Amino acid sequence: MDFELKTLTRARICSEKTDALVVLVPQDLTPGSDPVSTLAALAIKSGDLEAKPGKLLSAYRTPGIAATRVVLAGVGDASAKNVRSAVSAALAALKSSNVQRLTLCFSTLGSLQAEAIRAAVTACSDATYTYTTTKSKASPAKLRHVVVAVNDAAGAKIAKAGLDKGVALVKGVEFAKEWANRPANHATPTLLAGAAKELGKLRNIKVDVLGPKEVAKLGMGSFMAVAQGSAEPLRFIVLRYDGAAKAVAPVVLVGKGITFDTGGISIKPAAEMDEMKFDMCGAASVLGTFRALAELQPDLNVVGLIPACENMPGSRAIKPGDVVTSMSGQTIEILNTDAEGRLVLCDALTYAERFKPKAVVDIATLTGACVIALGGVRSGLFSSDDALAAALSEAGESSMDLCWRMPLDDDYAEGLKTNFADVANVAGRAGGAITAAKFLHRFAASFPWAHLDIAGTAWKGGAAKGATGRPVPLLLDYLLGQVAAAKAKPSTTASGKTAKKTRSASRTRA
Ligand code: BES
Ligand code: MN
Ligand code: ZN
Repeated sequence: MDFELKTLTRARICSEKTDALVVLVPQDLTPGSDPVSTLAALAIKSGDLEAKPGKLLSAYRTPGIAATRVVLAGVGDASAKNVRSAVSAALAALKSSNVQRLTLCFSTLGSLQAEAIRAAVTACSDATYTYTTTKSKASPAKLRHVVVAVNDAAGAKIAKAGLDKGVALVKGVEFAKEWANRPANHATPTLLAGAAKELGKLRNIKVDVLGPKEVAKLGMGSFMAVAQGSAEPLRFIVLRYDGAAKAVAPVVLVGKGITFDTGGISIKPAAEMDEMKFDMCGAASVLGTFRALAELQPDLNVVGLIPACENMPGSRAIKPGDVVTSMSGQTIEILNTDAEGRLVLCDALTYAERFKPKAVVDIATLTGACVIALGGVRSGLFSSDDALAAALSEAGESSMDLCWRMPLDDDYAEGLKTNFADVANVAGRAGGAITAAKFLHRFAASFPWAHLDIAGTAWKGGAAKGATGRPVPLLLDYLLGQVAAAKAKPSTTASGKTAKKTRSASRTRA
């Protein structure tokens, strides 16, 4: 699907030839003498349309309007959230019709926000995305071309920023959805590494893939322990986006890449086990974020780390009670082989130290307990650093990809104590999302760290089963926010020189 920005006054909208014209109708609509806004005002006056998000009124071959179909879509105060609801509702109503070209009319709005345009673009993608890779007869979405119409040059300038960000985000989200949706036999660790290598062809992105030998040399005994039950060899994927000077400390994103989670010897029940192909959604979100970065080329450095393997039972598999040595040197008693995500992530977190990162964010479908705690609305956010937590929360709000901060009190780590190793990989059932985060916390002491538990938000079950592409929107807004923050104050460097100066300067002020 491609997007085009057009300047079309309200008077010109009625002569726009298109399969469907979706007119956003705000609560403060000031009608003019043109056919479109006259129609909208009449519909509101007669009580046939409410200017609220989700409310629609459709017409076909209307005199004086060149578009084949017109959908009036209430949009309330025209906030990004309401625009998203309005566009989703309009596209759902048009789903069964043969619309290839669509014009989204923002010219009826009094004021325009870039965020609203971005929301419209992402809503179009969400409404039309269809997974086809493993179907013999692919029937891709009919909608091909979306025109975003704004009133004047000032509106076009605002809209352009929102459109560019939206288009980049859509590329990232669709990339993440695609790899997350692929079944485990079409998305093995090796194939996932291949997807990363494809990204390595894009500007400023470099990709290295490590195999079992290299990972053994690094001493990643915990990651290797999970992988040992499977015939599929593990891959450790390292991506770099270098958009800023070498000395600028990177943000490191770590994505859980369990391409299938059977639970291992602590095997899962059969019901819905197929959904454990989504256990690499953290990895997919890292790949998707890099896809979007390649598009936007922001001024920053980002590292992506993906420990990818299967969690299988078998004669070589780890057994409950086994003790392994992680790359950090800490020994781990594996009391439950189904708590494997933390076992692969801990070694990736240790590996992250070498980048002297500004911040490390891991993203993982880590616990069923997080699904119970927060459902599918907000991802769980855990962080050892208040500033990082605030930045991620804010990014969640601005991108409408929400998260909610959870606690990390040391008391939650009590249950991880064991007589047989430095730490156990599980505590009791209580507070399961938090105890999992506390396990990771032990391996993330040397940098500002955050953990996003996306078990509830990364995919939907039921009839609409499929990946959501979350939290690519959150991650992208967080990273773009870092560019703005770096411009506002001198940047921190990997060598720590400028960083020190900045810190002592702020101390003097305080
Ligand atoms: N991948 C699962 C978490 C999960 C489960 C995500 C269901 C989404 C839906 C993870 O590896 C896992 O199995 N976690 C266990 C941990 C437990 C053994 C402490 C869980 O949540 O049950
Ligand atoms: Mn598991
Ligand atoms: Zn898992």
